[in-house]
Amino acid sequence: MENATRSLNSTPGHLILYTAISAVLFTAGCAGVASAPPALKDAYSQDFPIGVAVNQRQCAGQDKRGDSIIKANFDSITPENVLKWEFVHPKPATYAFAGPDQYVKFGEENHMLIVGHTLVWHSQTPRWVFQDTNGQPLDREALLKRMHDHIQTVVGRYKGRIKVWDVVNEALNEDGTLRRSPWLKIIGEDYIAKAFQYAHEADPGAVLRYNDFALEFKAKRKGAIALIKKLQAQGVPVTAIGLQGHANLNWPTAEQEDAAITDLAGLKLPLMVTEMDIDCSRGGQRMTSADVAANARLQAEGRSSTTVLSAALQQQLASRYSELFGVFVKHKDAVKLVTLWGVTDADSWRARGNPLLFDRNGRPKPAFGAVIKAAGQ
Ligand code: GLA
Repeated sequence: MENATRSLNSTPGHLILYTAISAVLFTAGCAGVASAPPALKDAYSQDFPIGVAVNQRQCAGQDKRGDSIIKANFDSITPENVLKWEFVHPKPATYAFAGPDQYVKFGEENHMLIVGHTLVWHSQTPRWVFQDTNGQPLDREALLKRMHDHIQTVVGRYKGRIKVWDVVNEALNEDGTLRRSPWLKIIGEDYIAKAFQYAHEADPGAVLRYNDFALEFKAKRKGAIALIKKLQAQGVPVTAIGLQGHANLNWPTAEQEDAAITDLAGLKLPLMVTEMDIDCSRGGQRMTSADVAANARLQAEGRSSTTVLSAALQQQLASRYSELFGVFVKHKDAVKLVTLWGVTDADSWRARGNPLLFDRNGRPKPAFGAVIKAAGQ
């Protein structure tokens, strides 16, 4: 497959990613995985793999409609929830691996590049993680040990199978400073370096991503670039950057996306769009973060587009997808994966915003055709 053979820069991150993606996609090619055109992954086979976030029903084979969309269109999967701390490690001595095992099996059976999401994050992480048995804040050493054990257990279990991990998620504020998360408050700034070191120790072959939203804002991007450069100077194994890509009808503009990718490409690490969707709801037009609570509030305000998109909004959505994919294709030397955050609008965390390429009935929207058209040839 072309994806497996195109040349990549010779940084370690690129090399690891090259090996991971080519192995997975080459196997898929040999196994003769077929799909009826037009399919996203075929349209983009000369550009970058296309991924999708999947939920548990989809991995368990309980969503037949989703299943055929996923298999026909996507090269890669990310778990929407099952590998977040609160699900995979709900209590101190309890790991819940049934869902993640099913997820990984689904990816392997379909010869997909399997992504792990996410190890160290301030959200969807139970409160006990940061407390001792008396409910008092843990000290630095105890929290580091807990982080180490979690990463070792979860990454170690899927060593060599999950090829790409979101190691640290959303460590930055929008002004580019470090978020005052419990990780930062208890451990200090080096919690980020430690997380990457532990992940590398658990699976030296995995691509290790720093993942964040709104890197299209200059101040936040500046902070991200400074952070990654500092980690690189310390020899910390951060080997890819994830731009979440939660967008709306007005933001980011193609110019803002282009500037973000141009600047971040200067880090010489593979860039991956990790959670793309475009919110069409009225409330969602003010949404430039991925904060789950803020999203729910704004979605509730945007009642105009609850179930059906008007023809005009369908067209607006299509042209937004088209222009942003155009930017990704322009930068295909740097962009190594583009993942949509959900299969159909019915599956989306921003369901009210009808943000995806397939509608609630699993039918491709005009935006789907626009994305197919935007592929580089
Ligand atoms: C962030 C997280 C994702 C997801 C979205 C909202 O972007 O990285 O896992 O929770 O928020 O669903």
